[in-house]
Amino acid sequence: MPNTLKRNQKQETRNEKQQRMTTISTVKEMQQAARVARGEGKRLALVPTMGALHDGHLSLVQEARKHANHVTVSIYVNPTQFGPSEDFEEYPREIESDLKKLGEIGGVDAVFAPLAKEMYPHGQKNNVTWVTVDQLDQELCGRYREGHFRGVTTVVSKLFHACMPHVGVFGLKDAQQFLILRRMVQDLCMEVELVGVPTYREKDGLAASSRNVYLSDTHRHQAPIIYKALQYVRTLIVQGETDADVIRHQLNTMISLNSEGVVQYAQVVDVDFIQPVTQIEPGQELLVAAAVYFENTRLIDNVFVQSPDTL
Ligand code: PAJ
Repeated sequence: MPNTLKRNQKQETRNEKQQRMTTISTVKEMQQAARVARGEGKRLALVPTMGALHDGHLSLVQEARKHANHVTVSIYVNPTQFGPSEDFEEYPREIESDLKKLGEIGGVDAVFAPLAKEMYPHGQKNNVTWVTVDQLDQELCGRYREGHFRGVTTVVSKLFHACMPHVGVFGLKDAQQFLILRRMVQDLCMEVELVGVPTYREKDGLAASSRNVYLSDTHRHQAPIIYKALQYVRTLIVQGETDADVIRHQLNTMISLNSEGVVQYAQVVDVDFIQPVTQIEPGQELLVAAAVYFENTRLIDNVFVQSPDTL
């Protein structure tokens, strides 16, 4: 087949996909669309995002397609998960280019981009109904971002009510967020299956993040040390290291000695309660995580690891 024809066909497919993708801005319309899709026997997936989409977000959309035949991506910068000194106002809002990216990769049936008053009908400050998951927010990011996870669990509950998915798709890059949401779904008997997608990384191992563009060239060059250090300590655990302090120390030191990054935390926790581990037990499921500042840019990354069955 001549190349031009191939190109034309591709274009058509893309256009078809773009045409099929509807953008919805109210909860009522979203619920109606979800009811119609459910009525047609479709399996619905929701990929919640705050927009400024990068390849990590797009990998979630692709994964969603494997679990469902109707995919909604939500784009909403949720004010209640930002602390007073955090970057809510400055958070990038790029709805036009986001829609373009989603249209281009295809496979998205609906984009739910609600107005603030749809999500917080009485205004964010007058919101009185919250969803909280106790204990699991005490360490890692929760320790440094008070109220953050309450904002996340509340908005994700609202998004589930609006989009009525069978499957919710989330990135494991935000491991604490995923573990907290998984517990919320279990504890509140929500009829949603959660899928955790492995972290999408740049070629040099750096986890894709909308914040990576803020790094200077030097810091962008240094930042992959976070993942290298995480991989290194994962090997130590797999090889039988049982002292979690050694893991924390090695992780922190390797990042600090090899970059200008300032480590906010370098931690080893259990995956059920997200509490720091002292002595690593045989066959224990662990999350090793770090948050590192490069000037004002805060990067997070993590690895899951299971310790050997015999130690
Ligand atoms: P946001 O930061 O936009 O991320 C949306 C989803 O993309 C999350 O599930 C996040 O874990 C995932 N993600 C981000 N970077 C990724 C990467 N490199 N690889 C794989 N997945 C990645 O997380 C949020 O928004 C919000 O808290 C939200 C859940 C939408 C609630 O407001």
